[in-house]
Amino acid sequence: MALKPSEGELALLSGQDVLSSKTLTYEQLQLIMKTAAYYEDALVNKRRLFDMEGEIAAILFFEPSTRTRLSFEAAMYRLGGSAITVSETPQMQTSSTAKGETLYDAMRVIDGYADVIVVRSPKTGAGQESADACDHPVINAGDGTGQHPSQALLDIYTILKEHGHIEGLKVAVLGDLKYGRAPHSLVYFLKHYGCDLVLVSPPQLKMPEEITAEMRSAGIKVEETSDLKIGVAEADVLYVTRVQRERFPSLEEYELVKDSYTVNDEVVAAAKKGMSILHPLPRVHEIAVSVDSYPGAAYFRQAHNGVPIRMALLALTTGNVR
Ligand code: NCD
Repeated sequence: MALKPSEGELALLSGQDVLSSKTLTYEQLQLIMKTAAYYEDALVNKRRLFDMEGEIAAILFFEPSTRTRLSFEAAMYRLGGSAITVSETPQMQTSSTAKGETLYDAMRVIDGYADVIVVRSPKTGAGQESADACDHPVINAGDGTGQHPSQALLDIYTILKEHGHIEGLKVAVLGDLKYGRAPHSLVYFLKHYGCDLVLVSPPQLKMPEEITAEMRSAGIKVEETSDLKIGVAEADVLYVTRVQRERFPSLEEYELVKDSYTVNDEVVAAAKKGMSILHPLPRVHEIAVSVDSYPGAAYFRQAHNGVPIRMALLALTTGNVR
């Protein structure tokens, strides 16, 4: 049975924002993993929880989402709390942003309605901007091409569950490494574990130089290639991402790279035995549907891991793990 973290451990995140994987410490990362396992145990054993009874989470999505928004809401309800939500896209606004209200003003108001705030925005830096306006903890659920720390946390949790450890693994990250905030967040966490990184992307969609430089200076072996076969060879984990159409300056540039890779049965057959395949989802066509029946295809299990991870984040940041 998973143990509840100690009071000393819980203090590491109480009252804190979670904005970027860059700034979370290894100790905080470990605490989130431990708390998620504790909550997963309660979910599996159908133990009802009241850790956040009487608390409200404001869940504000200014960009499309299925998994992240619904798993944050499910997490809040599983903890006995409630959620108030805004869900809109720049094309279809329903909140006062349609009247020209700034994010800062909206956040200052919403801070008075809730105990914790979860925000997704197309604007890089929106998590920090929201945190500047709020006294309550803010969780960044994706800011433009910036960061998506709760996704990366569930990715780490999934690798740990699938493989039992991360140290010594070869992790291949494939796809849109330029615009994808999920891979940007993930590699900062991988830096804490002694694993080798293989970054596979078309030349136009390479991981930003400042991120690879930071990985290398942390002692991580980083290989970069545009060749899927080379990238997958010897990988223990294959993390696949979608080409982020909405972030391209023009549709023509997207069209050039949109079908760069497809992980299909042939790719899986040539892979190392026991390789796991992860994807933050949604997939477009970068993983063939036939791959779903491969035992290492972990992406749907990965999506489900979002609930205990987000329960941990909500309860830890508000100091409510009971
Ligand atoms: C990711 C995102 O929004 O950045 N999705 C998610 O949260 N599961 C990845 C993506 O949209 O490609």
